[in-house]
Amino acid sequence: MKQVVTTRNGDVGVLEVQDAPDPVAGSGEVVVRVKAAGLNFADIMARQGLYPDGPPKPCVMGYEVAGVVDSAGAGVDQSLIGKPVIAMTRFNGQAEFVKVGTGQVFEKPEAFSFEQAAALPVNYLTAYALLVAMGGLQPGEAILIHNAGGGVGLAALEIARHVGAITYGTASPGKHEFLRERGLDYPIDYRTQDWLPELKNLTNGRGVELVIDPIGGSHWKKSYAALRHTGRLGMFGVSSASANGLKGKLKLIKAALQMPRFHPLGLLGKNRGVFGVNLGHLWDEQEKVAGWVSAIMDGVNDGWIRPHVDKTFPFEQAGEAHSYMESRKNTGKVILVP
Ligand SMILES: NC(=O)c1ccc[n+]([C@@H]2O[C@H](COP(=O)([O-])OP(=O)(O)OC[C@H]3O[C@@H](n4cnc5c(N)ncnc54)[C@H](OP(=O)(O)O)[C@@H]3O)[C@@H](O)[C@H]2O)c1
Repeated sequence: MKQVVTTRNGDVGVLEVQDAPDPVAGSGEVVVRVKAAGLNFADIMARQGLYPDGPPKPCVMGYEVAGVVDSAGAGVDQSLIGKPVIAMTRFNGQAEFVKVGTGQVFEKPEAFSFEQAAALPVNYLTAYALLVAMGGLQPGEAILIHNAGGGVGLAALEIARHVGAITYGTASPGKHEFLRERGLDYPIDYRTQDWLPELKNLTNGRGVELVIDPIGGSHWKKSYAALRHTGRLGMFGVSSASANGLKGKLKLIKAALQMPRFHPLGLLGKNRGVFGVNLGHLWDEQEKVAGWVSAIMDGVNDGWIRPHVDKTFPFEQAGEAHSYMESRKNTGKVILVP
């Protein structure tokens, strides 16, 4: 089979399509013939050498695929073979075949293309964890979604709207029209102006009840300042460090040094909460995550979850796909296909 290999840390030139032996399903596993694999910001940061949870290089990234069950190992219901599925993969998803435990495999929604189905797991589970499981977003509350036009951002927007929240979102200005069409109440340009005074202005100086922030470093301090009483800040990424080589390492150190320290008395006095989400650290919580998957699938069946696939790249153009996201061109999901 072919697979997209991150051969070492570096720019997009380190990505290569290489041949490898097809995987064989072990006991309790299936092999999925991949039709579409999700690309995530973590794949980019792993390539840059800035993602501590990434596998040692050379490696094949990929947390999510949609495809067809090709074979099934011992102890697995053999009628699964030939079924269209979505799978959450702990790496190795960006390949023609991937093997996974049956606990990580879910039925593909019939109405979705393979590309749309592959856009579900990471973006929607992350957004669900941030808004519902940990953020406890309530109808009528206000939420600020940073990078609202990205993969997680658009998923968060759909969930927030379903909850009945008032939605504010930062994004590059070229994405605002699309975001308005998707129902974002207040798009905020954060590239050419300071978003915090703009948000305060829009909320009569109050701020919001929930902020979700994947930018990290000193930006978490600023997002914390955007909370009103009973407000919560969900931190889930450090995209501000994204860069190749030494520049990336230095930016990561800077981000670490500038991270806020939250004092219990400060939280208590201001009625605020802070929390973090890392989907990649929930592999031992399969039952909990399966509950979230089922809530997301209900949203798919009820028609309010509609993942937006921006662009699909063949494996051979994985470098272009990375560059597309790194240069902030994507609105929603980027997909790789064999
Ligand atoms: N903790 C978790 O479990 C978890 C899970 C999934 C994702 N994440 C994090 O969530 C964030 C979004 O992930 P995603 O996969 O959905 O990607 P994404 O938002 O689609 O990523 C690309 C977008 O991020 C924005 N952006 C902000 N800073 C950037 C930078 N320095 N370089 C390039 N783009 C930047 C750009 O949009 P605009 O400029 O238009 O806003 C860009 O289009 C990432 O930080 C990722 O690491 C965390």
